[in-house]
Amino acid sequence: MVETQHSSLATQLRADGSLRHLLTLDGLPQPLLSRLLERAQHFSTPASAPAARSTGLAGKTVAVMFAEPSTRTRVSFELAAHRLGADVVNIEVQLSSRLKGESILDTVATLESMQVDAFVLRDADASVPDLVARHVGDRVSVLSGGAGGYSHPTQGLLDALTVRQHKGRIEGLRIAIVGDIRHSRVARSAWQAFAAFGAREIRIVAPAALMPDAKEFAGCLRHGSLESGIADCDVVMMLRIQKERMSAAAIPDEAAYFAEWGLTQQRLRSARGDAIVMHPQPMNRGVEIASDVADGPQSVIRDQVRNGVAVRMAVLEETLGGVHS
Ligand code: NCD
Repeated sequence: MVETQHSSLATQLRADGSLRHLLTLDGLPQPLLSRLLERAQHFSTPASAPAARSTGLAGKTVAVMFAEPSTRTRVSFELAAHRLGADVVNIEVQLSSRLKGESILDTVATLESMQVDAFVLRDADASVPDLVARHVGDRVSVLSGGAGGYSHPTQGLLDALTVRQHKGRIEGLRIAIVGDIRHSRVARSAWQAFAAFGAREIRIVAPAALMPDAKEFAGCLRHGSLESGIADCDVVMMLRIQKERMSAAAIPDEAAYFAEWGLTQQRLRSARGDAIVMHPQPMNRGVEIASDVADGPQSVIRDQVRNGVAVRMAVLEETLGGVHS
């Protein structure tokens, strides 16, 4: 049901093995993922300290084109590009000529004529970033800011970075991803990142209607109850119900969902005492997560947001070939 496509490694990597486009984490070499996390860690300064900056992308231009709502991903890509010294243009797709019928490829070609070096794209149609990557000129990079229900690679990287900062490692951990797995690009990219970094066990925990097809999420353990799903886990990642990606019939009543699937303080006790709680946001408090858990001592949700800027700086620098400083 979720569109799957295979952005080949050849599309994403240059001949020298460096990253040119970032469309999916699926199949990316582990040393490249590690390099991106190391660099993101370098840019990840404490919340109380000034944000990291460099001039490595001075002279480059990044165009951010989102055709789906976004707060964190769009703003953090823009801040990341600014903090590396690049010029940034943000195209409101709702106000652009796409509304007059211009195709995405014509819009991109127009911006390429203005010497844009990278496009950051979000679209409900999962094939858009891949399509654009196959049509842009040789010196242009395409970065996915979320492709339908298929992938959200920078989110997967920021989730991996956040786990590593709090747990010191990903290897050997038990991780539960809980909620609307079926429609979630976040779950797909997080699973790929956690698997690449050697998580011991990745569980997908969801009611039957929100569980992905059996051929997806190879190697994950499937759980049909929250308590058993998070039992003894080191990491509990909660997800929003993706109403925009499902038919009305599949939407459970919110109060009933919270009663069975909402993460409360009491339910969180089944996880390890030192478990961290994650959520990509936007959160629906009182639906998938109780407010006191979202704001509680085990929550690392704000660190995920802060790390989003650091990861996007690392990805922009890697793809645009910035000078390391
Ligand atoms: C997510 C997304 O857009 O996929 N948000 C994000 O980028 N942090 C999650 C969601 O919308 O539920």
